[in-house]
Amino acid sequence: MSRIVVLIGAPGAGKGTQARLLQSRLGIPQISTGDMFREMKTAATPLAKEVQRIMDAGELVSDEITFEMVKDRTSREDCRATYVLDGFPRTPVQAEMLESLAKDQGKEISAVLIDVPFEQLEQRLTGRRNCPVCGEIYNIYSKAPKVEGFCDLHPEEKLVHRSDDTTEMVKERLETYQVNTQPLLDYYEKSERLLKIDAGGTPEEIYSALEKALAANNAIA
Ligand code: AP5
Repeated sequence: MSRIVVLIGAPGAGKGTQARLLQSRLGIPQISTGDMFREMKTAATPLAKEVQRIMDAGELVSDEITFEMVKDRTSREDCRATYVLDGFPRTPVQAEMLESLAKDQGKEISAVLIDVPFEQLEQRLTGRRNCPVCGEIYNIYSKAPKVEGFCDLHPEEKLVHRSDDTTEMVKERLETYQVNTQPLLDYYEKSERLLKIDAGGTPEEIYSALEKALAANNAIA
């Protein structure tokens, strides 16, 4: 049976980095709710303005809006087999919503905790830069682009610094994660669907551990 691989981790733990590696190396689609909201918030609609306000405050968009977006995106052809959810679910209500979606789609859920000590997160987030075209993730401390400030794959594109990657916002986002998302770890552990990856190493070391854990769990071939 195909799977929904759910990546859970604090802001900056490396969910996006690992999901993009799974996509590029194994062809498993990465569905990132954060990326979808960032795309949405540039539109001139009341909903886009509300999403922008919520993200800028380090809070969570409503469960209903988020779920509708995930349901719509995962109904596309590329999600017929296994796909990776990066950033969803993030609340117990979203986890319940995902159970019914998985049932409708005939898939099993495997959750993976990308576990990084909180002390490492601030530097990862304040040092992060993204390509506005392809979303490639860089870091001025650990993964600098070849030319400072520009994407390796789109050399004409200046990298951007997310507005929620400031020291002050990182604190808010970590609190939101602790209150809303950490309870999901118990939820998936109790139903024996939680894999844990120590994510203190390099992205390659973590990817290798992640691939092994997913294969051992029959989540990937
Ligand atoms: P989202 O974009 O999902 O943000 P997040 O969860 O805070 O996670 P990040 O994207 O910040 O971090 P990441 O774990 O992907 O780390 P990355 O790989 O980039 O959500 C943004 C907002 O959208 C939320 O605050 C909320 O408002 C809204 N939202 C999203 N989903 C929602 C939902 N389900 N419900 C309601 N609202 C929702 O890595 C970080 C940095 O570290 C990079 O620079 C990277 O190069 C570096 N790095 C990665 N791995 C390593 C390593 N092993 N060693 C050193 N550096 C590393």
